Amino acid sequence: MAKALSSTLQRRLATGARQAARRAYAPYSKFRVGAAVLAGSGKVYTGCNVENASYGLCNCAERTAIFTAIAAGEERITRVVVYTPTATATTPCGACRQVINEFGPGAGVLCLCDSDETIETTLDALLPAAFGPAQLQSE
Ligand code: THU
Repeated sequence: MAKALSSTLQRRLATGARQAARRAYAPYSKFRVGAAVLAGSGKVYTGCNVENASYGLCNCAERTAIFTAIAAGEERITRVVVYTPTATATTPCGACRQVINEFGPGAGVLCLCDSDETIETTLDALLPAAFGPAQLQSE
């Protein structure tokens, strides 16, 4: 069970995800997403979705935030907050679940939107029986 976060940290993650969504580059889908991750050092990293005219190259907000954290020298993430400016909350896509598993198999996931709906879950619930680094180490 993940340790409960201070309300200050929860606010920083939520604000970070909301602000990041404003920087989304989503001219094709018009679906803006912001994400904030809490890394092992205690720092918060944010990201937005970045689309491309070659659609398959679109990068989700969650992966932008996680890759930014890893590029800054982090090794683990413990919490992911996703924000969409929509009436219902959005959970991370399958590809992002796999990437969260790589760096935060025990991570908590909180999905926020512009209504009161929130989804508070865990990576384990979103991606049960995940394939990950451990499988590559077993013979
Ligand atoms: N998207 C995210 O950023 N995160 C998700 O978890 C779901 C989808 C983005 C990708 C694309 O830019 C747009 O939302 C529509 O799929």
